[in-house]
Amino acid sequence: MSRFTIGERDFLLDGAPHRVLSGAIHYFRVHPDHWQDRVRKARLMGLNTVETYVPWNLHEPRPGTWKDSGPLDLGRFLRTVADEGLHAIVRPGPYICAEFTNGGLPAWLFTDPSVGVRRNEPRFLRAIRTYLERVLDIVVPLQIDAGGPVILVQVENEYGAYGDDADYLDALTAMVRGAGVTVPLTTVDQPRPHMLANGSRPGLHRTASFGSRSAERLRTLRLHQPTGPLMSSEYWDGWFDSWGMYHHTTSAEESAADLDTLLGTGASVNLYMFHGGTNFGLTNGANDKGVYQPIATTYDYDAPLDEAGRPTGKYWAYRRVLAKYTEMPEEVPADAAPAPVGEVALTPAGFFPVAAFGTMPVTVTDTVPTFAEIRDDAAFVLHRSRFRHPSVSVLTVGEVRDRVHVVVDGHLVGVLQREDRATALTLPPVAGELLLVVEDQGRVNYGPRLGEDKGIVGGVRVDGAPVTGWETVALTADDVIGLPRAGGHPNPSGSIPALSLAAGTFEAEDARDRFLDVSSLGKGVAWINGFCLGRYWSRGPQRTLFVPGPVLDPGGENTLVVLELDTAPAALAGFVADHDLGPVED
Ligand code: GLA
Repeated sequence: MSRFTIGERDFLLDGAPHRVLSGAIHYFRVHPDHWQDRVRKARLMGLNTVETYVPWNLHEPRPGTWKDSGPLDLGRFLRTVADEGLHAIVRPGPYICAEFTNGGLPAWLFTDPSVGVRRNEPRFLRAIRTYLERVLDIVVPLQIDAGGPVILVQVENEYGAYGDDADYLDALTAMVRGAGVTVPLTTVDQPRPHMLANGSRPGLHRTASFGSRSAERLRTLRLHQPTGPLMSSEYWDGWFDSWGMYHHTTSAEESAADLDTLLGTGASVNLYMFHGGTNFGLTNGANDKGVYQPIATTYDYDAPLDEAGRPTGKYWAYRRVLAKYTEMPEEVPADAAPAPVGEVALTPAGFFPVAAFGTMPVTVTDTVPTFAEIRDDAAFVLHRSRFRHPSVSVLTVGEVRDRVHVVVDGHLVGVLQREDRATALTLPPVAGELLLVVEDQGRVNYGPRLGEDKGIVGGVRVDGAPVTGWETVALTADDVIGLPRAGGHPNPSGSIPALSLAAGTFEAEDARDRFLDVSSLGKGVAWINGFCLGRYWSRGPQRTLFVPGPVLDPGGENTLVVLELDTAPAALAGFVADHDLGPVED
């Protein structure tokens, strides 16, 4: 058994000064069969610790329903870290930010909008207690003083950027300690005085998040954390991507030089990210600082290991810096071979609203329900009204969260998009049906919009008169892939019309990772063999989706299914030798 404590100037491992050289890997963004490979590559770069967040909303998808197996087997992930001889840092939130939907908070918690968010409110705290008890049941026996790898646990996340409720932080701390956490507790904040002041409490060790100007940031941190080791718990070595923007990259040389400055002061570090991975499923978050910006599927982050787990220039630049401060293993990761290439012809497999209304439970209401009112964990909510209007008219909605396809008598007439603040559309005469397909593009993960509802907020009107008599179905991504698909013949020169399912089969000679080229598709969601690769969107930046090899069936028939929401010019996808994350900033 070892002991990990905080001394006057240093972290202490069994009483001896110890520098934490950590890198973030979110187990929930990496296929479990890849965990060991990624953790090993962390060790081979010179790191001695791996850090992860824990996403409450994946572990407790419904109140009281707990999942911790397969891709959510946190215990197995931590044991994998231990087996590589590394330490672990766990950041169980409950709020994690992380460009993850709702910052990791479950949507079901806020179907009642009066439930508190990140403050000392009894119903919020009650739900957290249940969650933390389950997570810490896994973490506590894996602490270093019990023979496991866990050396630090973080309370909340950049709380000083959100609130100043000291009672809330105290209540969280009491829960974490009460559940048996004995290792030091930390907080992280951006190095601004009011954030460092409000984000922590006595007894919690303050650390900072930043990606440059290390020496200056550590000096600010020191003013608020007068004793003990300095640590950048998030040294931002790259950045995330949002749809419609360029792919973010940072200079490996400059970032490595700044890491050198940081380590030269004697500080500890956690690289955010060491390996970013992928927002598989529909788990991406969004920002909304005046304009809604959903996060892309890739979480490559321009990190030392890329999305596919391959060392980048940054990996080698960091390795050279780290070699100055730690004993470096001689072994280096092997070079990755190019990925297998090939084409997949897709066959349109039916108008998805027809399949949805024919399969899913239908709810009848007078006004269109929001997601919280019908199904808080839905990815898509479809509303239809048997409605007639003999002339051209104008449809208006209160607010769009986040994207609505407007269909009149089976024909798409337009799309209302949240980032455009679009709330009105001209309709042609309506002979009998108005259909609205609403997509949640990812819940805001930062700032005051956390926990907000999705859907059409504030009802639907045509020429000012409320439209009533709505039938609604709500679907998760799992429901969509379970819908019946119509048969058909591959037609590579054809296209895929809006709101259609399409499918194609392919052979995989082996289970190597692949990159799915989605550049001839519009906007939608892709699955291989039922595994949800995530969203694609022609506005980019990414033009490929990462396909983890373990989801393939070598020798068998593999199936690619897409839900095309917009229009795909060609009913074709393919596998390409390398990923294409899109244009970078000049
Ligand atoms: C902050 C948060 C992280 C992440 C990064 C940006 O540091 O703590 O969860 O959102 O910003 O990637």
